[in-house]
Amino acid sequence: MLLIGLAAWLGAQPAFAQAQAMPVDVLHWWTSTSERRAANQLSIYLAANGVQWRDAAIPGGGGMAAVKVLKSRVLMGDPPDVAQLIGTTLTEWADVGLVLPLNAVAARQRWAQNMFPTVMELVSYQGDVIAAPLGIHRINTLLYNRRVFARLGLLPPKTWAEFELVARKLLAQGIKPLAWSDEPWQIATVFESVLLGEAGPALYRELIVQRKSSAWLDPRVERALTRLRWLRSIQGETPREQNWTDAARELLQGSVGMMVMGDWAKGELMAWGASPGKDFGCVVVPGTDNMHLYSIDTLAMLVNVRHREATQEKVAELVSSLPAQLAYNRIKGSVPVHRDADVSSLDSCARDSWDTFADPRSARVPSLAHRMAADESIKDAVAQTLWRYLTDARMEPSEAQRRLAAVIRAPSAER
Ligand code: BGC
Repeated sequence: MLLIGLAAWLGAQPAFAQAQAMPVDVLHWWTSTSERRAANQLSIYLAANGVQWRDAAIPGGGGMAAVKVLKSRVLMGDPPDVAQLIGTTLTEWADVGLVLPLNAVAARQRWAQNMFPTVMELVSYQGDVIAAPLGIHRINTLLYNRRVFARLGLLPPKTWAEFELVARKLLAQGIKPLAWSDEPWQIATVFESVLLGEAGPALYRELIVQRKSSAWLDPRVERALTRLRWLRSIQGETPREQNWTDAARELLQGSVGMMVMGDWAKGELMAWGASPGKDFGCVVVPGTDNMHLYSIDTLAMLVNVRHREATQEKVAELVSSLPAQLAYNRIKGSVPVHRDADVSSLDSCARDSWDTFADPRSARVPSLAHRMAADESIKDAVAQTLWRYLTDARMEPSEAQRRLAAVIRAPSAER
């Protein structure tokens, strides 16, 4: 209610002249080395086109803190001009009239023709285009340390049986097989990749997109939960919470052999000077060949008293253009949303991600952990339930399944 009142109040303010020279306030959670550089790349591109970027970065992987800060800024009547709003959080804000429709920009730049249909679906809501798409991340990414693998004569695992073998060999050399963090969003990120591999795209969609409670009792979910617990247990030491960047650092230093994380971790390794052909490699999580578990980054333009609509439209137009996207995604680790992009100059992991996403025969499925499939409260409830299951050794997978079935609400029950 408060949000609806605020939206009405903002809309009723007199229109002020557009101040092109005034910087646009951009709220986001890109604070690691590669994220920072990718955001800088955007701000340089905007500056070259007459738009100044004023940074309002909120640290915290996965955007937990940024989403909270955004909410409180909106409630205080001070929404930023531009915000990294992704997936279902977008529609929540659009519902209360706080997101500027970008239909004119989308029509002018022929987004519907130039961008992937999955991307357009994500940014379209009740007939409006509500955000500017920036890049597509692949969550089902398994990174491995190439030098360690070469030294021990290991090949990147394609199946879980191969993974177990590789893990045993790494352990025998005193190397932790898999980077791990007990942060709930990171647990959820690993889990959804494992789940996709065990369940396959059809059941994954029932679980995550249609959110059928009963499907969560399927034996394939039990297998995924058992595997998740095993993955956490092979560290050889008590798992702890750590930033995803610290986990990536362990991978690069060779104290761990592999890491399951969205390909922003690849961007980070590259920002530290590592190269995919030499220092690390990337394959898909076992069982997820030809599947693309995606998280798509988008920027939304927020309605506010400053009435910066023309500048906001210009931001949307610039960041979604192909040159800006190639420069940004090269650093960020994601891939452009344009279906006519020439990705031949991107790294091999990016090319594979883009090819899979573009191939009509592949399965493209949305990430729950990164807000592509359910609202913030369901996402958090799932992540907390997984965390509880992992940290309470007495909880059986079947009990975790029952709890997950209870926190998953079908989309129709949301409004
Ligand atoms: C975002 C990425 C970001 C990652 C880690 C994801 O939710 O989509 O852009 O790099 O979180 O913070």
